[in-house]
Amino acid sequence: MDSVETLLPILVAPHKTLKTKARPVKTEDMDRVRALVPRMFAAMYKAPGIGLAAPQVDVGLRLAIVDLMPGEKPSPIVLINPEILRVSEDWATREEGCLSLPGQYADVSRPAMVRVGYSDMEGKRREIDAEGLMAACLQHEIDHLDGVLFVDHLSLLKRNMLMRKLAKEQRAALTK
Ligand code: NI
Repeated sequence: MDSVETLLPILVAPHKTLKTKARPVKTEDMDRVRALVPRMFAAMYKAPGIGLAAPQVDVGLRLAIVDLMPGEKPSPIVLINPEILRVSEDWATREEGCLSLPGQYADVSRPAMVRVGYSDMEGKRREIDAEGLMAACLQHEIDHLDGVLFVDHLSLLKRNMLMRKLAKEQRAALTK
């Protein structure tokens, strides 16, 4: 059986891997990364979502994918060992969701603009200057590599409320 045919399951919080800092991708990981990336895109597009980090599919590597589908056209970006190089002083607030927190949304404040450095699939170091949705998405995905979920940016009260609501909805889904 072709393993690409099976959809990668996306972990739902709470899960240990989602809280664990991922390790940098090394040259010897690249075969694994090349096999994993198409499967991550398949899982993300199916969900559907605009970003997915390797820890969300139970892989502890500093790897994330993003596709904001500008103008409905696929525009996939693979980020290997991404890091935030610069952030703007001004912040922006937008509603975020996460494939690992299905059905949960909350306003999250983050720097409005970021510069992100990363390696592409060919090992070339690249940079993106991002604002708006892309800035939030990149910060959200890089957070995943550090074991941080968007709810970790909320007050304890709000976070506990969302996590309880998620747990309740997950239980209800199981008994359906
Ligand atoms: Ni997420």
